[in-house]
Amino acid sequence: MSSIHTPLCDMFEIEHPIVMAGMSLGMDDAMPSPPKLAAAVTNAGGLGVMGCGSRKPDTIDWCIREFKKLSSGPFGIDLLLPVTMGTGAKTETKAEIRGRLERDYPKHVAFVKDLVKEYDLPEIDLDDSEEEAMTQDLLKKEFEVVLDHKVPVFVAGLGDPSWVVPLARAQGMKVGGVVGAVRHAQRQKDADVDFMVAQGTEGGGHTGNIATFPLVPQVVDAAAPLPVLAAGGIGNGRQIAASFAMGAQAVWIGSAFLVAEENEIPREHQEQIIKGSSPDFSLSKYRTGKQSRSYKSPIKDAWAVSGLDPLPMPLQGILMEPVYLASRSIGIMDLDTATAGQAGGMITERKPAKDIVDRLVAETHEALEKMKPLVN
Ligand SMILES: Cc1cc2nc3c(=O)[nH]c(=O)nc-3n(C[C@H](O)[C@H](O)[C@H](O)COP(=O)(O)O)c2cc1C
Repeated sequence: MSSIHTPLCDMFEIEHPIVMAGMSLGMDDAMPSPPKLAAAVTNAGGLGVMGCGSRKPDTIDWCIREFKKLSSGPFGIDLLLPVTMGTGAKTETKAEIRGRLERDYPKHVAFVKDLVKEYDLPEIDLDDSEEEAMTQDLLKKEFEVVLDHKVPVFVAGLGDPSWVVPLARAQGMKVGGVVGAVRHAQRQKDADVDFMVAQGTEGGGHTGNIATFPLVPQVVDAAAPLPVLAAGGIGNGRQIAASFAMGAQAVWIGSAFLVAEENEIPREHQEQIIKGSSPDFSLSKYRTGKQSRSYKSPIKDAWAVSGLDPLPMPLQGILMEPVYLASRSIGIMDLDTATAGQAGGMITERKPAKDIVDRLVAETHEALEKMKPLVN
């Protein structure tokens, strides 16, 4: 097996500069970056990062313990640390937020009720009156689990990690932040992170508007001397070689690992990624209130023509629950579709994670070798 080594490999203590991006959809039964997948990526020489944003602290603890049963190698946890929260309250249950939605956002609630009727979805039992919604207090509890386990690599997917850096560093952890715009790189630098992920708009999940090609070199310059991982739309080794050319020291790949055999997202969603072409993966704020890229869906289309403004996190996600939980509960997977990026257009098969890592390493090596004659 060929080998490609960058200084970031030393920081993460990994063989290949390939990191599986932390991915979370907040659902415990359909994890896009579950422990068994993260362990398979780490065991293949990359770094497996588990996306645990908006998960209960107990679930995060379970993920870490489960990973450790399957791998003794390094791993990461990614949490969302939004700068602003839709709920000003310190703690607020989902039931309380539902009450607030009915009171303050009747048009939004009517939109959801109309969809439930139009698609003949069952009324689902949202019996979670005590479940805590995503509040600053919950974020702190989530992060405490990460600290307790001295997780080797912590990534802040959204927001400002300044409050976590000193705590994490005291535990010997490495901390990184995801940025989708050059101006965010300065915020991460001020927060004193160890590395940054520059994620272009092509990527799956929450994403900005700047494409990977213009974003990565600018973030590399702004972040210097900190190392940068390139992300967004990367699905083969030629793109990884291009990422090195742009100054990145590793890649952060999400969508291409969604079709790993070890993934837990629904098989129907894996098929959407395998069969879909790049334009099928479009942006919308319908699901979480923040712009996110996912496979086409009639719900997304309905939201686009509704003229409604998206609600701040976590209100929008709680608003939409009756649609996506109900459609999943009866096995309809083309209403709440795969969250994935434009790389979906180049992903053609379901494979074990090790095969995906091996392919990416071999293709990168080949691409770099092919470039050698270009230099005289
Ligand atoms: C299903 C899915 C869920 C995601 N959830 C998160 C998340 O919880 N936190 C985060 O930082 N990024 C999240 N992302 C973004 C990824 O971490 C990563 O930046 C992105 O997938 C890279 O682009 P790519 O999909 O083209 O590889 C998610 C992406 C996907 C596809």
